[in-house]
Amino acid sequence: MKHFINLKDIPALDLRKIISEAKKRKKKRKNLNTLDVDEDSPLKGKLLIQMFEKPSLRTRLSFYLAIKQLGGEALTLRTDELHLAKGGESLADTAKILSTYGNGFMLRTDSDKKIEEFKKYLDVPIINGLSSSSHPTQVLSDIFTVEEIKKRPISTMNICWIGDSNNVLNSLVVASVKFSFNLNIGCPKNYEPKKVIMDWVKKNKRKINIFNNVKRAAISADVIFSDKVVSLNDKVNKTKKIKDFKNFKINSKLMNIAKKDAIFLHCLPRGSEVSDGVFLGKQSKVWQQALNRIYVQKSILLYCFGKLR
Ligand code: CP
Ligand code: NVA
Repeated sequence: MKHFINLKDIPALDLRKIISEAKKRKKKRKNLNTLDVDEDSPLKGKLLIQMFEKPSLRTRLSFYLAIKQLGGEALTLRTDELHLAKGGESLADTAKILSTYGNGFMLRTDSDKKIEEFKKYLDVPIINGLSSSSHPTQVLSDIFTVEEIKKRPISTMNICWIGDSNNVLNSLVVASVKFSFNLNIGCPKNYEPKKVIMDWVKKNKRKINIFNNVKRAAISADVIFSDKVVSLNDKVNKTKKIKDFKNFKINSKLMNIAKKDAIFLHCLPRGSEVSDGVFLGKQSKVWQQALNRIYVQKSILLYCFGKLR
């Protein structure tokens, strides 16, 4: 059984297969409506159960449409309506029921431990739909988007992240090892990636460049990524953190330091880390990026359901 919890645990070859499948399926849907099922209906009769302990717009919708387009169905559980949340039922028993009623489980939670616990007790695959330490479905989809726009492998590119060392960046760092691309990180001092993640990079014989100077990080970038300075799980002094990031805003001046044909990507939702001019400007591909999540979620589901050739 294949879970999708962390990019670290998935062989690079499988990650590449997921992206290739997404490309093929997207191409075949040119003349189809949103809810039309792919011709081969590979997940006919399958139920994906999803649960969000934190807000979500894109992940929720993209998984819903992904399973529908593959011929299956999705059911979203409200955490506050389950016995689990109120302590009236154990996680193990909840997992048993999810496994007998459904065929896959997608969970968004703050607790990485909870994902591991579910994995232990589930007899069906679990997908991490964002945790405090990673956002693997987002980043895999972003690699698909980058290659779709640039029409070449990401391994030939300079990728730049300007922002907090959060869950999305953690997954991007892992992706930089799995897909062998150059990664520059621009962030203030004291907001650099954790040692454990940098040690993992080192162990895998790769290097990531960290700059406390935003301009240096953006030089020669093919892609500039960003995300909210304050994430959903952040228990910080928000005012102070936003102040600490004041020199790390993405504006047109910064975009001019990157390559001429550089693109801007952001997983959304956005905050004040990017100017409206850049976010809504020509170099921004954020809407295409958001839409592509459907296609990559589809291949992630196929991978988990053992249907990826
Ligand atoms: N990018 C992303 O995961 O969006 P949601 O939080 O809306 O799902
Ligand atoms: N880093 C953000 C991503 C939201 C999709 C968060 O965790 O809130």
